[in-house]
Amino acid sequence: MKTTILKHSSSWRLLQSNSLQQLSRLLAPVGGLLSLLLIGSGATLAIRYGTASTSAEAPLPLTTPAGMILTAPVNQQPDTTQPKPSYWRPPADAQIPVGETGKQIRYGRVLVAHTAKYLGPNGSVRHISNGMNCQNCHLEAGTKVLGNNYSGVFSTYPKFRERSGSVESVVKRITDCFERSLSGKGPDSNSREMKAMVAYMKWLGTGVPSGKRPEGAGLVKLPYLDRAADPETGKLVYAAKCQSCHGSKGEGVRLPGTAQYTYPPLWGPHSYNDGAGIYRLTSFAGYVKNNMPFGATYERPQLTDAESWDVAAFVNSMPRPHKDQSHDWPDIRTKPVDFPYGPYADTFSEKQHKFGPYQPIVEAKKATGSPVK
Ligand code: HEC
Ligand code: HEC
Repeated sequence: MKTTILKHSSSWRLLQSNSLQQLSRLLAPVGGLLSLLLIGSGATLAIRYGTASTSAEAPLPLTTPAGMILTAPVNQQPDTTQPKPSYWRPPADAQIPVGETGKQIRYGRVLVAHTAKYLGPNGSVRHISNGMNCQNCHLEAGTKVLGNNYSGVFSTYPKFRERSGSVESVVKRITDCFERSLSGKGPDSNSREMKAMVAYMKWLGTGVPSGKRPEGAGLVKLPYLDRAADPETGKLVYAAKCQSCHGSKGEGVRLPGTAQYTYPPLWGPHSYNDGAGIYRLTSFAGYVKNNMPFGATYERPQLTDAESWDVAAFVNSMPRPHKDQSHDWPDIRTKPVDFPYGPYADTFSEKQHKFGPYQPIVEAKKATGSPVK
């Protein structure tokens, strides 16, 4: 099989919303069986491969099979619909050092992209997480602009976080996502796996000044709606724009014969739990706006802000594993505006905190001098 590196240049165009969905509807039943798709004559296939030099196995693709659905360039002109900000770019592979450190970085990257293969329910190293991959939410192994990338991790940790009320290391922050987003347990802080993920994040932060978060780091938070986000409308958005991949019961699509996913679950027993960051509507809406349906980017979003909020309200109203969070937020005044569980330092209901409208809560927080997040 020919292996080329996918360059994220503006000449590449992911399929547009409608055709993407028609295709994904066709592809959904065969999921991972269809790893390559040739569209149109003269189309070039580009697959991005990771090199798991720590493993004797063949290198694994770094993107999900869905990530390989690409068209030939349809428009060579640069996209002028949006300004081109000076967004962060990940360091080039050529900058990975040789020797042990380099191997560690590459192993860390593979663990982020294929967490389930190593640490999922049938993982080859340990069985400590739910079958999702870090990459499901930290797209392109945590390198995609506004795709929840890791560019601002090493420069800003250790840092004080209000959720735990303590100074957290990178190890603690990774463990958080294992316990919440992957609804499991983190690898031991001295394990080869934890050290590799930390080394990978350190490498991604090459050149980022200490204390700074680069432009395009993490996620954007969308402007608030002047109404509550509406799960009923969100259900319609889900059916039209998400269900073809994530399933009518939010169950996702597994790679045949494995405990790994081609399309990860959005709710149900195998999804993220209610203590996860993405369970908050601001994170979910900000994530999907610039990244979903799969193939969307900040330059070419496919959802309106209102659709993003409403689909967030729908998905985060569906059942999922519960995490005991009684020790979170030791100072309740620091709970974010959209944190869905009381007790609160204000008189707004859990329902309003969860779905909005948020502006009145912001005003009340300001009036009492509570931090607004
Ligand atoms: C279900 C979605 C999801 C999955 C899966 C997930 N995360 Fe996260 N992660 C988030 C969200 C949401 C945030 C917070 C983003 C924000 O508020 O800016 C986050 C934040 C982080 C941060 C801090 C980022 C920063 O810039 O401060 C790290 C580090 C991290 N995750 C590591 C991991 C690792 C390692 C895995 C896999 C074991 C993982 N995450 C899996 C959703 C997820
Ligand atoms: C074409 C298929 C496709 C469509 C349509 C799609 N997604 Fe996804 N989605 C994916 C894939 C693939 C991933 C994981 C990306 C990766 O691992 O690289 C993902 C990941 C996610 C995640 C983070 C992981 C998780 O399981 O929680 C969320 C949230 C999400 N999608 C929401 C949505 C929403 C909301 C819509 C509709 C607006 C949508 N997606 C439409 C393919 C799709």
